[in-house]
Amino acid sequence: MSVTILTAASVNGIITPSRGECSLGLLRTLSVPRDVLEVQYALRRRHHAVLLGPEAVLVDDPSLTSHAAPGFDCVRVTLDPAGRIPPGYRILDGTVRTLVGVSAATPGDYLELLAARGIEAVSCGEDRVDLPGFFAALAARGLRDVLVEGGGRLNRTLLDQDLVDEVNVVVMPVVLDSASVNLFEGGEGSLRRLRLASCERLGESELVWLRYTVESAG
Ligand SMILES: NC(=O)c1ccc[n+]([C@@H]2O[C@H](COP(=O)([O-])OP(=O)(O)OC[C@H]3O[C@@H](n4cnc5c(N)ncnc54)[C@H](OP(=O)(O)O)[C@@H]3O)[C@@H](O)[C@H]2O)c1
Repeated sequence: MSVTILTAASVNGIITPSRGECSLGLLRTLSVPRDVLEVQYALRRRHHAVLLGPEAVLVDDPSLTSHAAPGFDCVRVTLDPAGRIPPGYRILDGTVRTLVGVSAATPGDYLELLAARGIEAVSCGEDRVDLPGFFAALAARGLRDVLVEGGGRLNRTLLDQDLVDEVNVVVMPVVLDSASVNLFEGGEGSLRRLRLASCERLGESELVWLRYTVESAG
């Protein structure tokens, strides 16, 4: 199993201008050329599935069916044990393969909705989703290389549980409110050592792509 994080962050490590706000407008504000986004699409194509945190889904309502990558549909994955994603959200539209991490506490009517849309409910854990068990279940379904595209709390939870192999940060030339969401939001506060694997300026843009491998906590 391999888990890679990809996040765009400000110079001070913030991933959205304010809490509860969609982060996607930032790239427009910074006039980032579309071809620069090819980094994201290329990474998606190299992975079996893209995992998004529940709050990122609720705030951004992403489809993940990129118009910029014709002929490629990534497998979409999220966690939603409480059944909070509204039925009209794009990730639940049933147009591409989609898996949702649920638990023994997930409401029955939500499970029925997922089944009716052809969405695979992957049950792990009693209340929250047991993440090691969830990744094992994904691997058993042929999804062994997972790209995690945030948000910050999911990134942190995965790092704290020693489940991350690689961290990709696209640094945006901006400083944002430090009270907003950090790319590794919350957590246990223990120091985690990363190793720089590559560092690249994206085309002629002012974005820098940093790629790190993660040293095991043990
Ligand atoms: N710049 C970028 O590249 C980028 C990318 C994606 C998203 N974003 C932005 O990030 C923001 C969302 O980030 P976020 O940190 O607020 O939210 P998030 O990481 O998407 O989701 C946080 C939620 O996930 C739950 N969670 C984590 N692990 C879980 C588990 N094992 N089982 C069940 N639930 C679990 C947390 O529950 P608990 O609170 O109980 O732990 C919390 O409610 C949005 O504003 C979005 O626009 C930016």
